[in-house]
Amino acid sequence: MIPRDKPSGSIENSAAQQEVVLSGVSKKFRRGSLALKDISMHVDKREFVSLLGPSGCGKSTLLRLVSGLTTATEGTVSVMGKSPAEVREQVSFIFQDATLLPWRTVEQNVGLGLELEHEKQATRKEKVAKMLELVGLTAVAERYPRQLSGGMKMRVSIARALASRPSMLLLDEPFAALDEMSRDRLNEELLRLYSEQQWTVMFVTHSVAEAVFLSTRIVILAPHPGRIAHVVPIDLPWPRTAETRLTMAYEEQVARVSRMLRSVQNASQNDFAGEAEQGGGA
Ligand SMILES: Nc1ncnc2c1ncn2[C@@H]1O[C@H](COP(=O)(O)OP(=O)(O)OP(=O)(O)O)[C@@H](O)[C@H]1O
Ligand SMILES: [Mg+2]
Repeated sequence: MIPRDKPSGSIENSAAQQEVVLSGVSKKFRRGSLALKDISMHVDKREFVSLLGPSGCGKSTLLRLVSGLTTATEGTVSVMGKSPAEVREQVSFIFQDATLLPWRTVEQNVGLGLELEHEKQATRKEKVAKMLELVGLTAVAERYPRQLSGGMKMRVSIARALASRPSMLLLDEPFAALDEMSRDRLNEELLRLYSEQQWTVMFVTHSVAEAVFLSTRIVILAPHPGRIAHVVPIDLPWPRTAETRLTMAYEEQVARVSRMLRSVQNASQNDFAGEAEQGGGA
């Protein structure tokens, strides 16, 4: 079941439960400003942590650090007690634009990772079928990406990521391009899978409503340089369903997080104005 009895950030959360730990992490790109400065945070096992913040505050960079796609300039990142590179196979990264191979069918796209892992064809077929069933795409297994809607493409991308049985998911704005109804439905689907599969999830979004619906905790980042502005535990009962969105408690949390995000956004716009006056740049 969903970790309803799991108060994030409480004293009883021992270090052993901390799946992701960032301490004093900074990231400076060679030809860029400081993308992240002195980030210290953790994600407990089976937590669902969303990252919110204005464009350019370092959300994607933070996920890439956790995935091992890039390394920190300062500080340390550990995942399951190891370096991100050591546990890469247990972590799946889903990018914003569902990058499917157009010349492969749904089935072949989902099986891609397993092929790369040299999984035998028979086991591969079985695993792929199971994943397609999980995301409700069995009926379109033979279709090509161009014959799918945006939401279906995203589900193929999710199925592909899940086929390798990750214990952790990193999702960077996976539903940004979808209409609200599809997004809501996929959010519900994602939570269903999250409770079944017992994942630890880090999720990037620009939608406060989505972050509140999905998360056990929300981390709000501020830009220039990217840093943590607020950490907000989301105290809504589990399981969360479409009904959850109709409750006062949900509305209140959305309003509260929106206010926090707006104040971060306003402050960063003032920063920009200040820099412009001084003739500086970001
Ligand atoms: N490869 C890179 N080289 C140089 N600078 C980079 C690189 N990747 C990101 N940056 C810079 O680092 C900062 C953080 O970028 P990042 O993509 O992490 O932001 P973000 O919060 O994900 O933004 P968005 O919401 O627009 O996706 C930005 O100023 C960006 O220009
Ligand atoms: Mg990004």
